[in-house]
Amino acid sequence: MLDTPDLLRLLHPFLAVIWVMPLIGVATYFAIQTRQRRLAVNTKAKTRINPLVGTDHVRVGRWLAGSVVGLVLLGLAHPIIKTLIREQVWASDPFRVVFVALVYGFTLAAVVVLYRARTAQWRGLFATLTGLGLWLLGMQPGVFRRGQEWYVSHFYLGMVAAMLMIFALATLPEIYTSKRWRLTHAALNTVAVLLFISQGITGVRDLLSIPLHWQEPYIYQCDFANRTCP
Ligand code: HEM
Ligand code: HEM
Repeated sequence: MLDTPDLLRLLHPFLAVIWVMPLIGVATYFAIQTRQRRLAVNTKAKTRINPLVGTDHVRVGRWLAGSVVGLVLLGLAHPIIKTLIREQVWASDPFRVVFVALVYGFTLAAVVVLYRARTAQWRGLFATLTGLGLWLLGMQPGVFRRGQEWYVSHFYLGMVAAMLMIFALATLPEIYTSKRWRLTHAALNTVAVLLFISQGITGVRDLLSIPLHWQEPYIYQCDFANRTCP
């Protein structure tokens, strides 16, 4: 049976699978259609693609960007809070607990303001603050970052994907202004799609290697380098 710590751990993978991954599929589908329609119109070829696909892509894209930021906040919340409790940080270093809570609050506020910001300066500022908040939380003790193998790290690849989503949201009006912006957007987010695919792979790998809560005391006695257990 899964107990509460296990269920809390599953919240992030669960939302990734039933909400964020489908959104990625829809956003990418509309993105390809937007591009194909533009190419067809440019060459005056007939196309059955609806002129509103660009708008549809942006509508889904706006949901996607915020959802990925939320998903990262959730993925980080579990290991951070668990570590604060296990190490009884409230007794030894209450400032750290207050700091983490404040950064959470500020990061959430920063994304909300980013959605409402109109001028380039405000969008730039709140995108930077959102990204900064995610990195400050990501660097907290207890987060498993896999620094030695950063190229297959669920943490680092996921953080880069989140930064690309924040950047897309922050530069939304610019994407319409020139061909250079549009192609930059398309190129960066093609990388984002590859990173999201990697998140699917590294995420299920990590799920497989994390023990159930009640098994932890036994599993963590194992020698992971030599693959032996007492
Ligand atoms: C899976 C992620 C995404 C991919 C693969 C993607 C890709 C693309 C592509 C290929 C285009 C068409 C470029 C062209 O016509 O030359 C496009 C257009 C656009 N995208 Fe994205 N994008 C993604 C996410 C986002 C997000 C998160 C936003 C903003 C919130 C966004 C905003 C836009 C805008 C404003 C356009 C211009 C639409 C138009 O021309 O009507 N995209 N994107
Ligand atoms: C959009 C895709 C995703 C992004 C951006 C993302 C991002 C993150 C981040 C930043 C963390 C915290 C760092 C860490 O512990 O590695 C995390 C944790 C985790 N993610 Fe994801 N993730 C995504 C999808 C998935 C999927 C599809 C799964 C599995 C089906 C998954 C499983 C996990 C697990 C098991 C953890 C550890 C949670 C814990 O320690 O409690 N993730 N994710």
